[in-house]
Amino acid sequence: MISLQKISKFFNKGKPTEVIALNDISLQINKGEFVVIVGANGSGKTTLLNIIEGSQLPTTGTIRINDQDVTSLPEYKRSRWVARVFQDPHNGTAPDLSILDNFRLAALRTQGKNLVIGINEAFKKKVQAKIAELGMGLENKIGQAMGNLSGGQRQALTLLMSAMDHTDILLLDEPTAALDPKSALVVMNLANKLNRELGITTILITHNLKDSLAYGNRLIHMREGKIARDLNSKEKTGLLLPEIYQWFE
Ligand SMILES: Nc1ncnc2c1ncn2[C@@H]1O[C@H](COP(=O)(O)OP(=O)(O)OP(=O)(O)O)[C@@H](O)[C@H]1O
Ligand SMILES: [Mg+2]
Repeated sequence: MISLQKISKFFNKGKPTEVIALNDISLQINKGEFVVIVGANGSGKTTLLNIIEGSQLPTTGTIRINDQDVTSLPEYKRSRWVARVFQDPHNGTAPDLSILDNFRLAALRTQGKNLVIGINEAFKKKVQAKIAELGMGLENKIGQAMGNLSGGQRQALTLLMSAMDHTDILLLDEPTAALDPKSALVVMNLANKLNRELGITTILITHNLKDSLAYGNRLIHMREGKIARDLNSKEKTGLLLPEIYQWFE
């Protein structure tokens, strides 16, 4: 469970350039929820994910993950629970390393140095089997450098890595923005599957309003650093696309 209590985030506090990116946000996200966040540019969506991930600390307020106060816990200490996929497919993986080595790195990151996975044949087989499930034909290319893959292939693999690492929380910041429709569908279906089958709590930021209807069991609309709307599964079911467009007017 993620619990944000009265979270505010200021940039350049006290200066003429001061920005209130998050303005007194309180929010509770239960385990296994799939929350979609929409909102205009600059409304604070990415900042909210940064605060949950720990790459930025809030100016005021408290954040708890799984009942533990993590407000001042740095990012690397939260990586046990939290994985993130960015808009830019280049982000989050090591381009010069092979697919397999990227999976090894990811496993090390979360499972610690005491785990002997580096040269393990079983680990390789497991990775190959998981990759085969994507249906992208990448299972026989695991020696290939990550940097040579397409954006869609990389996003799908990044998602897979998070799942194999027993991540509790998956943060997706416009993961399909740079992808063609087919790759976008692969990535979205995979996110959906991970959420349903493994119960990974998922937070997706998207500007694709169709996706915001198609996925998730909760829809949050952010405006000027605040939560303007927070619709549960039932409220979301009756919602039509034109209504969501109106939120942006
Ligand atoms: N490091 C920073 N320094 C100063 N201002 C910042 C910083 N990061 C974000 N901001 C400001 O905080 C506000 C919220 O930014 P944020 O990136 O969270 O918006 P967003 O909703 O993710 O927008 P987009 O849809 O464009 O990605 C914006 O006004 C932005 O300019
Ligand atoms: Mg953003």
